[in-house]
Amino acid sequence: MSQKSDFGLIGLAVMGQNLVLNVESRGFQVSVYNRTTSVTDEFVAKHPGKKLVGTKTLEEFVQSLALPRKIHIMVKSTAVKDTDRDAVDAVIEQLIPLLDQGDIVIDGGNSFYQTTERRDAYLAEKGLRFIGAGVSGGEEGARKGPSIMPGGPASTWEVMKPIFESIAAKVDGEPCVIHIGPGGAGHYVKMIHNGIEYGDMQLICEAYNIFKHAGFTTDEMAAIFNEWNEGDLLSYLIQISGKALEQKDPETGKPVVELIVDKAGQKGTGQWTLMNAAENAVVISTINAAVEARILSSQKKQRVAASTQLTGPDGTVNAADKADLVKKVHDALYASKIVSYAQGLDLIRSTGEKKGWNLDLGRIAAIWRGGCIIRARFLNRITDAYRTNPTLANLMLDPFFKDVLSKTQQNWREVVSLATLSGLPVPAFSASLGYYDSYRAARLPANLLQAQRDFFGAHTYERTDKPEGQMFHTEWPEVIG
Ligand code: 6PG
Repeated sequence: MSQKSDFGLIGLAVMGQNLVLNVESRGFQVSVYNRTTSVTDEFVAKHPGKKLVGTKTLEEFVQSLALPRKIHIMVKSTAVKDTDRDAVDAVIEQLIPLLDQGDIVIDGGNSFYQTTERRDAYLAEKGLRFIGAGVSGGEEGARKGPSIMPGGPASTWEVMKPIFESIAAKVDGEPCVIHIGPGGAGHYVKMIHNGIEYGDMQLICEAYNIFKHAGFTTDEMAAIFNEWNEGDLLSYLIQISGKALEQKDPETGKPVVELIVDKAGQKGTGQWTLMNAAENAVVISTINAAVEARILSSQKKQRVAASTQLTGPDGTVNAADKADLVKKVHDALYASKIVSYAQGLDLIRSTGEKKGWNLDLGRIAAIWRGGCIIRARFLNRITDAYRTNPTLANLMLDPFFKDVLSKTQQNWREVVSLATLSGLPVPAFSASLGYYDSYRAARLPANLLQAQRDFFGAHTYERTDKPEGQMFHTEWPEVIG
């Protein structure tokens, strides 16, 4: 191949390889580079006849690209602090002396958004352009069409737009990619996407756990998820949960899911979301519960030891009417999911405002409708909600969702009660319900809390019968002992 390539990718792990094949399949010529040359050779050899250019050195890679170069880095990022430097920084440092002014470097990994902001500023100083793009969809998404969340200068997005739009998933003909905003906005939104992903996964697991403890077989549970996947809960995660429950182990004939150790892993994006929400004083209790559920699950040894020491109901769910339980758990899951998205979107809105990113929640929800891990039918409703009212204070207040929450809440409450009385943990269901009830409470017990603060620290309080902002202090009695 003598002509220069339209696109270059560094990092040929599975996601990188699939992304390359996706870009190539849209008619672009792609150059590839991997630190271990044999990986590049094998990859190119495995795909004869495709417009792929394998390169052995970074110099050769850079020289093979048309100007302005578009270089997509797909290596694992680990930096979370301003001072941290990781593999993405190492690749960038190696690239800088080889590039020309105006070339574009894209970081397509799950990088922490503040490191993206640092890289954006650093490359701009060097006359280079940077895009921090969240890419969701796993291996299959990367190959067939992911949801892409790029952040960076609008002018750089314009250059990347034709390639990104052609490789992204499509829903109703619309590509699942938009310019999210400047700097770290793309990676920020991807981080919250992942937090929401954690919430969705945990909620599904809680539904599964209730069914399991009510005596449903894995095949029955698979059938429930498959049926739910035809309705309001239609989503990729419900779909794969049904499929996972159907899967039998070839060796033992048992359901694979029941052979898997109940210790959840996590790479960090959920925890980042939690820390970010705390920093910004935004409540994301469902996502927090999901992150914490993973942490507790990983403490298997302590749990097994505690199971013989701490008393309580044994978790058996007594459900006389199984069909009724299925309906109730469906509603609890649906309502909790709405709350989880309301919280995640509130965090995006709040940070977007602080950063001046000018984020469009409706368009963000729209690009999550396809390609990504949280793709779901109800994202159409979220898109509509923000298209109708771009300044919606909270998703729960949208007329459609308000109505769903009103209709599902009796079942939601019954499920949380039933599980709690059975000794079965439902941290995400109950955290969601707690948020719903707190958010709709005109008066919370924070009056007593303010009294406590004023009592021990003279922190002062406002009065219900005096103008807002006017502060009062009471001379509380002295407490001895
Ligand atoms: C996606 C996913 C992906 C994530 C993994 C694992 O959108 O494609 O969010 O980016 O890295 O699914 O995440 P955990 O290991 O933290 O579960």
